[in-house]
Amino acid sequence: MRSTGPKDLPGDGSAEAVRQYYDRFAEQEEDRLTKDIPGRVSFDIHRRFLARHIKPGWRVLEIGAGPGRFTVVLAGIGAQIVVTDLSPVQLTLNAEFVAAAGVDHAVERREVADVRDLSAYPDGAFDAVVAYGGPLSYAFEQEQQAMAELIRVVRPRGVVVASVMSLWGTWRARLPGVTDLEAKHGTAVGDQVLRTGDLRHVPGIEHVCRMYTWAETVALVTGSGASVIDGSASNWASLHDLDFLASLEADPPRWRHFLDREATACAAEGARDGGTHILFAAERGPERGRG
Ligand SMILES: C[S@@+](CC[C@H](N)C(=O)[O-])C[C@H]1O[C@@H](n2cnc3c(N)ncnc32)[C@H](O)[C@@H]1O
Repeated sequence: MRSTGPKDLPGDGSAEAVRQYYDRFAEQEEDRLTKDIPGRVSFDIHRRFLARHIKPGWRVLEIGAGPGRFTVVLAGIGAQIVVTDLSPVQLTLNAEFVAAAGVDHAVERREVADVRDLSAYPDGAFDAVVAYGGPLSYAFEQEQQAMAELIRVVRPRGVVVASVMSLWGTWRARLPGVTDLEAKHGTAVGDQVLRTGDLRHVPGIEHVCRMYTWAETVALVTGSGASVIDGSASNWASLHDLDFLASLEADPPRWRHFLDREATACAAEGARDGGTHILFAAERGPERGRG
């Protein structure tokens, strides 16, 4: 299921095109994890996953940090963070958001970095690397190189925590949009996207990325000589029935109970393709018998 890379299409997935997209739509990214129930649940699942894998006092490289919601979570855990992103505009937003949260002391520095080339950082320089919200989904043909870079910069038994866009979860969450798209461009385009996960096959689309299945995510990790130690979907029961979920959210004890259940469901092997994103934790070296 590897992409063939349709370079002739408008959203070509080059670093420059992705950077321009995130520079231009910077503010849209700011409320992605707060504006609706699927986003808020996704934030909570990602937050719990970080809490499970990142330890206080760790030095963490955050890749594709964006406006900083997870920088603040990492600071709350007690990590020391090198914040990076492909987009300078996102780094500016990150500085503002983290300062407003009163935790800028946890940031060692901020700099532009591309997940495909982390040569600025020595081998094993970090206890953990966090790449949430899809930097790997923008690496296209260089995703294996990007994954190898993430693994290289963590110390032995250090951890890589990342999320990628989910193929089947996106189809599930955006079924009407996908159906409209096929009506416009033909089912062959939809077939190609579902076969490769590569949105560059959609003519004229502005936001391009590569969506993954859980099996492909595991293959990406093991292809870099690393092992998956944990996995989760970002949503399972939180993409539909939104009016009902809003009534639960309005009742904090019931909402907390729902979120606990949802986190358990999302982590189940059978659910990992079911949300808009797939989360994974990986460590250097072969399987040690956990995960
Ligand atoms: C969807 S946002 C996620 C932001 C944040 N990590 C979160 O989960 O809320 C994706 C971020 O990845 C950055 N990005 C895209 N391609 C990248 C690349 N090749 N290397 C590093 N960052 C990249 C974008 O600029 C953007 O800020």
